[in-house]
Amino acid sequence: MSEKIRVLLSEEEVDRRIGEIGKQISEDYAGKSVHMICILKGGVCFTCELAKRITVPVSFDFMSVSSYGSGTESSGIVKIIKDLDEPLEGKDVLIVEDIIDSGRTLAYLVEVLKQRKPASIKICTLLDKPSRRVKKEVRVDYTCFSIPDEFVVGYGLDYDQKYRNLPYIGVVEFDD
Ligand code: IMP
Ligand code: MG
Repeated sequence: MSEKIRVLLSEEEVDRRIGEIGKQISEDYAGKSVHMICILKGGVCFTCELAKRITVPVSFDFMSVSSYGSGTESSGIVKIIKDLDEPLEGKDVLIVEDIIDSGRTLAYLVEVLKQRKPASIKICTLLDKPSRRVKKEVRVDYTCFSIPDEFVVGYGLDYDQKYRNLPYIGVVEFDD
């Protein structure tokens, strides 16, 4: 069985949209700083590209969480694999995610991070699959693209740890 990747969003489309979102964030945070929290590993490419388009002062921190048990459904039980290095108190926090699927990971993360008393928390995601949402209370502030319910890779997203380095978003197709 071999895999093929079908392009869903080209490098140019992704690049243009990240530019727009970066501009919007820069306007919304005028006079403030943005403390970007990159959710590893999937959020890493998007975080870097987005940060380059933000014109207000930016700082970074990184967090790694595991939400999937076995299979492809997130369990709702989120484990912190790597916590942040710095406190959040008084900071304007922007959580940067690769994709929001059921919303379970983010629902948990927002609850945990709120307890650390940031000045504000917003969520920015490269991709959203709204049809898959279980946690309806998760409010996403910035979405680059809403996509159908397909398994996508590239731009940080993986299939079995592969394809994170693709400069576009693609759908994995199997043929035998
Ligand atoms: P949630 O808790 O169901 O929202 O899961 C979100 C996480 O599932 C993302 O951060 C990804 O790591 C992973 N995920 C969900 N959909 C996809 C996909 O289409 N491709 C790759 N990873 C995905
Ligand atoms: Mg993720």
